[in-house]
Amino acid sequence: MEAFMDTLTTINQRHAIRNYTGAKPTTEQLKQILTAAESAPVAMGQFERYHLTVIEDPDTLAAINTAAAAAFHGDGGPMLYGAPVFVLVSVDANGGELSNADYSSAAIIAHTMALAATDLGLGTCYIWGAVAGLVQSPDTVAQLQLPAGFVPTCGITLGPTTEQYAPRPVDEHRIGVTQL
Ligand SMILES: Cc1cc2nc3c(=O)[nH]c(=O)nc-3n(C[C@H](O)[C@H](O)[C@H](O)COP(=O)(O)O)c2cc1C
Repeated sequence: MEAFMDTLTTINQRHAIRNYTGAKPTTEQLKQILTAAESAPVAMGQFERYHLTVIEDPDTLAAINTAAAAAFHGDGGPMLYGAPVFVLVSVDANGGELSNADYSSAAIIAHTMALAATDLGLGTCYIWGAVAGLVQSPDTVAQLQLPAGFVPTCGITLGPTTEQYAPRPVDEHRIGVTQL
């Protein structure tokens, strides 16, 4: 599938999309996004410590949504925004605690997928809140069949959207910068 943005355009136009048509991404789109994930860097090149779970099964999506909502406010709200696909990034904690580099690597994998999805014109949103809720429900985590010792850290929703990507004005000072 042909990309239609250059990198800086993709970075500028990407924004969090929380509305989905309900249609699924094509197999080819999903493959390209997963290939992008496999291109992402991870700390110390320890790729074997990261795992992606591509969740399209409606019952599993609903279970994650319910577990996440229960952890936050209990009303079963749309923590995954009704997206048809959720890609979860998990990391091998090896029985201990995850490090800053572990979380950062997982985030970079997620962001790489989000940029690829944007480039393909698909909607995508970073999902940390729902994953924080998910990990409080061991029964739901067990349904995900993660490799032993792996812990969910973050993910992205994916799906076609009616929202358009368009040039965005960027406030150049919203993140503080010191130049020395
Ligand atoms: C680390 C991280 C975690 C985020 N977690 C969530 C989340 O759980 N749910 C959500 O709807 N958006 C989440 N977001 C999206 C941010 O709210 C969003 O990117 C930010 O408000 C800037 O908006 P933009 O992405 O449209 O530029 C997250 C973004 C990042 C970088």
